Amino acid sequence: MSDGTELLEPPAPARDDETSAVGGASPRAALAPSDSFPRRHLGSNAEEVAAMLEVVGTPSLDVLVDEEIPRAIRMDAPLSLSPLAGLPADRLPGERELVARLAAMAEENQRFRSYLGMGYYGTVTPPVIQRNVLESPGWYTQYTPYQAEISQGRLEALLNYQTMVADLTGLPVANASLLDEATAAAEAMSMCLAVAKKDKADGAFFVADHCHPQTLAVVETRAGALGVEVRVGDPATADLADCFGLLVQYPTSDGRLLDLEPILARAREADVRSVVATDLLALTLLRPPGEMGADVAVGSAQRFGVPLGYGGPHAAFFATREEYERKMPGRIIGVSRDAQGDTALRMALQTREQHIRREKATSNICTAQVLLAIMAGFYAVYHGPDGLRRIARRVHHLTAALAEGLRRLGFRLADEPFFDTLRVDLAGTSAAELLTAAEARRINLRALDEEVVGLSLDEATTVEEVETLLDLFAAFAPSAGVTEVNASLGFDDLARAAAVAFPAPHARSSDFLTHPVFHSFRTEHEMLRYMKRLESRDLSLCHSMIPLGSCTMKLNATSEMLGLSWPGWMDLHPFAPPEQASGYRELFDSLGAWLNEITGFAGISFMPNAGSQGEFTGLMVIRAYHRDRGEAHRNVCLIPVSAHGTNPASAVMAGMKVVTVKCDERGDIDVADLTAKAEEHADRLAALMVTYPSTHGVFEGAIRDICDVIHRCGGLVYLDGANLNAQVGLCRPGDYGADVCHLNLHKTFCIPHGGGGPGMGPICVAEHLLPYLPTHPVVAVGGEKGIGPVAAAPWGSASILTISWVYVALMGAEGLTEASKMAILNANYMACRLAGHYDVLYTGEGGRVAHEFILDLRPFKASAGVEAEDVAKRLMDFGFHAPTMSWPVPGTLMVEPTESESKGELDRLCEALIAIRREIQEIADGRMDREDNPLKNAPHTAAVVTADEWTHPYTRRQAAYPAPWVRERKLWPAVGRIDNVYGDRNLFCACPPIEAYGEGAFD
Ligand SMILES: Cc1ncc(COP(=O)(O)O)c(C=O)c1O
Repeated sequence: MSDGTELLEPPAPARDDETSAVGGASPRAALAPSDSFPRRHLGSNAEEVAAMLEVVGTPSLDVLVDEEIPRAIRMDAPLSLSPLAGLPADRLPGERELVARLAAMAEENQRFRSYLGMGYYGTVTPPVIQRNVLESPGWYTQYTPYQAEISQGRLEALLNYQTMVADLTGLPVANASLLDEATAAAEAMSMCLAVAKKDKADGAFFVADHCHPQTLAVVETRAGALGVEVRVGDPATADLADCFGLLVQYPTSDGRLLDLEPILARAREADVRSVVATDLLALTLLRPPGEMGADVAVGSAQRFGVPLGYGGPHAAFFATREEYERKMPGRIIGVSRDAQGDTALRMALQTREQHIRREKATSNICTAQVLLAIMAGFYAVYHGPDGLRRIARRVHHLTAALAEGLRRLGFRLADEPFFDTLRVDLAGTSAAELLTAAEARRINLRALDEEVVGLSLDEATTVEEVETLLDLFAAFAPSAGVTEVNASLGFDDLARAAAVAFPAPHARSSDFLTHPVFHSFRTEHEMLRYMKRLESRDLSLCHSMIPLGSCTMKLNATSEMLGLSWPGWMDLHPFAPPEQASGYRELFDSLGAWLNEITGFAGISFMPNAGSQGEFTGLMVIRAYHRDRGEAHRNVCLIPVSAHGTNPASAVMAGMKVVTVKCDERGDIDVADLTAKAEEHADRLAALMVTYPSTHGVFEGAIRDICDVIHRCGGLVYLDGANLNAQVGLCRPGDYGADVCHLNLHKTFCIPHGGGGPGMGPICVAEHLLPYLPTHPVVAVGGEKGIGPVAAAPWGSASILTISWVYVALMGAEGLTEASKMAILNANYMACRLAGHYDVLYTGEGGRVAHEFILDLRPFKASAGVEAEDVAKRLMDFGFHAPTMSWPVPGTLMVEPTESESKGELDRLCEALIAIRREIQEIADGRMDREDNPLKNAPHTAAVVTADEWTHPYTRRQAAYPAPWVRERKLWPAVGRIDNVYGDRNLFCACPPIEAYGEGAFD
């Protein structure tokens, strides 16, 4: 007789194999949901893993890991992740089950109607943009457009964004987004300092007292690190003589429109650079800062169709005058031409992050907010100037009607004109009392003073909501005879009586968005096709792997992305009272606990919006620690030469002096040099910044000793966590000696790169650094001796944390550990397959690489005249995105396959690289021309291959279909090889004139 157990299946394995270590065979585990996730995330099944191990020449994954990761730093116990409320602790959840839990958590967030303003506003995301950009892997899975020929769609969308920002602000050049409004203002301060004349270099930065509090606080954090004094006051009367820069807000944080022209003129007379923090929607009706004399305009493009998301992600903008364009922070998209002389777009003035000037840096911006900039740009394309004006007029009219009603109720409003924000003097009622009454109606208002409140209307506001607001205020009306008042509070009457025209000098008279792209796609069909047309020009993870070393282009699973479409996560204002955000609280608590366990640390701050910001934050925390111990003089930061450019840039921003440490011929940190420098600077040593495994893709055996040397000399260790993907479940920075590390959640923890952002760079810290975690002026977060805020929102781009939460919960501790092992196996497999064809630079003591490796192409320059760039462009003909080019070693390619790629995909990339190697050999042997060959002419466009004329000494087929499998998956590069030098010499950063696009482009 059967006891039924024969019906039980083995537990869902991590990969599609039955030999996986995941789970025991308890009935509960065996009957776990069939939609388990690890086998979807990990690229290869048991058979494929066995085949790869054979090529690598090692018996098992565990032996491979033992060969690569030094025993001394391995974890002594398996990762242990705290279970989630509402989910079983003893088995892995299925995708459906976990998504349901995520939905239940979203419901725990209470969606009050927030009129809090302060840079965050309700908006209507056009569904055609939501479905086809925000929710489309064709837009969100790319990295930064390093390989411009296969990124033309994204580059055009970003050029639209830059043109929109430049037009609306009235300043000629804009970049392709920064992280948020507050950090954009801080970047502007740094730029003003960088361009200041010598006699101003020790001057102060003046911030108007009417700016958003979080903007002021972030500027103060950044200024404090540089020793710059921030002076706060009324810019109309202040003495600016010893200031190098001025920041004002237009409209002010409490909604007033000040006449900026005389203020900016005073600044100019005093040789002070002026920065205006402003609002793009308001600028459709108001005179732009550029016309009023501003040098820089910054702000957030959030209200152009990007949901609130409890703080982000949103794109910030930065525009300036031409004379400062080469000092501008962040990435700039520029127009150039391709090998055929046609218009082509690319990132200007930079290859990989060359805009980050290492120790000469004024900015460390790397990952920005590309996806959100693209959305905001498309919002402007869809609505066009007339549509945007209509939206702005409606918001203003609703606000004016509300103002009229409030005045009739007897409230006193600010004297100045306004756009969408009112400052209401309650004349006798306490703000707290009104706010309590508002909360009872699920409304959030802003308390400005004891008896003053502020409120901002937005695109999503309805007439009925204005009526509700009037009703709410009426209960506290100072005017006698409420009935009498009510009679004159009919909305139509108020709307008719409201003054909606802007008086001089505020009204805008100049045109904007005159380019045809902003006039051609009004219907949803046309918009859909335009966006799809651009999408089809880009290579994304929808097409093939993107093996960018140091970037960790792994699967961004659909279940991980679903939450971003739900109002429960997206509709919360970041400054809403925290008790309304219980779902977010649970998200922060559980994800925070998991990340602390994964890194071996005691606490976390989710505030930094990118790895670069995590670096700055971590160093500021270290600085605060030293200061608190009476060691404020500790300001030397040791950084290995192999470090990513953001490391020295962040150290400079944190007020530290960078001392570089050599690497040896194996790529490892030269421990003797490190020790000598640490000892030499022992009395002033603040920190070491180290990337582990190294940027050369190796687990250096000496990491513990390195950390010990630094501690012995009084410094702390900052670990750049960009390479955490090789460590999760295997070793922990907190265990081997680091004091703080940042995590690029947009690498290891599955937040998609969005084509160059968003990202999240939270920092995890050891116990002794907990008191210094960053604070926020509006929402209570951080340590009791915390540094000031490093971002506008208390939990950074909070909404995208749902992605990492889903990833960790679906993988579980064993799945995550398996992922690290697979990442290491995939890299070693590729390195072994390519070894006879290319030299692999740097291996660990066991002869293995970590999760990425470097191919040396330098010898081909002499033998065949071939450079890394030629190989990168030729890979496009095979349908691949090149690995990271010329970093960290010039003339090389750094390959990071990640755990999510299948053996089949790895094999295809190997075959492409081997085929290219054969072509290089033919050139070297003189069988192929040194100038006219498939590498030098790559990439080959459809136009070139199908032209009537073909003069090259190789076939069209070799050009376009160089491997059999390319036929099935051909992605034609949209343009030929781009001329970078031409573009940089003739810098042009807005939509090119219509003729450049060719006939019929915008019909
Ligand atoms: C090693 C390393 N450190 C830091 C960063 C900067 O991170 P983010 O782009 O998130 O600012 C990167 C980005 O590529 C990196 O590779």
